[in-house]
Amino acid sequence: MASEKLALFGGAPVRPALLPYARQSIDAEDIAAVSRALAGDWITQGPGVKRFEEGLAAIAGARHAVAVANGTAALHAACWAAGLGPDDEVITTSLTFAATANAVVYQGARPVFADIDGATLNLDSDSVKRLATPRTRALLAVDFAGLPCDWDKLRALAREHGWLLIADAAHSLGGALGERPVGTLADLTTFSFHPAKLITSGEGGAVVTDRDDLAERLRTARHHGIRYQDPARPWRYEIDVPGHNFRLTDFQCALGLSQLARLERFWTARDRLARRYRERLAGSPFLELPALPADRRHGWHLFVVLLRLERLTVDRDTVLSALRAENIGATLHYPLVHLHPFYRRRFGYGPGLCPIAEAAEPRLVTLPLFPTMSEADQDDVLQALDKVFIHFARRPS
Ligand SMILES: Cc1ncc(COP(=O)(O)O)c(C=O)c1O
Repeated sequence: MASEKLALFGGAPVRPALLPYARQSIDAEDIAAVSRALAGDWITQGPGVKRFEEGLAAIAGARHAVAVANGTAALHAACWAAGLGPDDEVITTSLTFAATANAVVYQGARPVFADIDGATLNLDSDSVKRLATPRTRALLAVDFAGLPCDWDKLRALAREHGWLLIADAAHSLGGALGERPVGTLADLTTFSFHPAKLITSGEGGAVVTDRDDLAERLRTARHHGIRYQDPARPWRYEIDVPGHNFRLTDFQCALGLSQLARLERFWTARDRLARRYRERLAGSPFLELPALPADRRHGWHLFVVLLRLERLTVDRDTVLSALRAENIGATLHYPLVHLHPFYRRRFGYGPGLCPIAEAAEPRLVTLPLFPTMSEADQDDVLQALDKVFIHFARRPS
């Protein structure tokens, strides 16, 4: 292809309207389910919540699911249920949405950032090991983009040190490690049902666990910290530790349950597109693909690539701007958490803390991926990438 004028410089864009990086899939059955819930006697904390929780627990392979208002509330409830407090440290990743570490901060505890594995972009267990102190209480790992972590290694570390193992699985509902579904790999697993995620309830989240004691505490966290003394006298209750209002409504749960029934279909569509991206991009001199270990079923929330900046004359942000101008909604997941002003100020973190994550972040690009995206949409992404790369290719001097 001859070098075509980039839309960034006034040329015609590859497509007339923006292709977003994510989009929810709502069908007539979803709308009917929400309507039925709204016409019922309960619009919050009715039977729809339990039905959604049972459906989710079955898919996640866990004994308990507790639905909450969003994925951030799920993380917060998990940290509350873990009993984290001001003297505690939680080892986590910096390559995540800030909500992961913020939840630790809400409890007054200290997030400690381990580095990532440069190939999978998930936490590196050797880096985690080096950060263990007598104050470490929990390990909070993220299945970045949807790729399940090496949970067996993380669990071995957690067991050795007596840490609680928490999975932020906002990206990986429906994923698996070998035959074991996401939801069975940690003590507590949190999900998000934001519209960009793998299923949606508008806003929404949940925590799943096999442990009865943690499930009980999650329910208490969700409902103000209230503990009832006698089921026959529900007007009598006490609060030992203040909780929150993290409740999810019945009509949101109706949407969540209706979506859950299509999770496998959504996953198949995402998987097909992700494999097609990988085939088409495998030989590109301008980018690298994250590793996809054979024992993982990727959740495919995000399709992330790493630019080879040494082959380009511009930085990642210019590539993103050029793709946006072509009407391709490429974006960045994520600015590193330890470099946000709050984390620098409060905890004294700064550059150099996570060298592998810091080297990866300026190279990261998220390409559009969602179940109703067509192959023609995907071809537009590939064409725009070609156009931008040809324009900004570094010529041998
Ligand atoms: C890794 C991760 N954790 C937590 C969250 C928070 O979820 P929510 O937006 O539902 O609060 C998100 C959502 O963007 C996320 O990507």
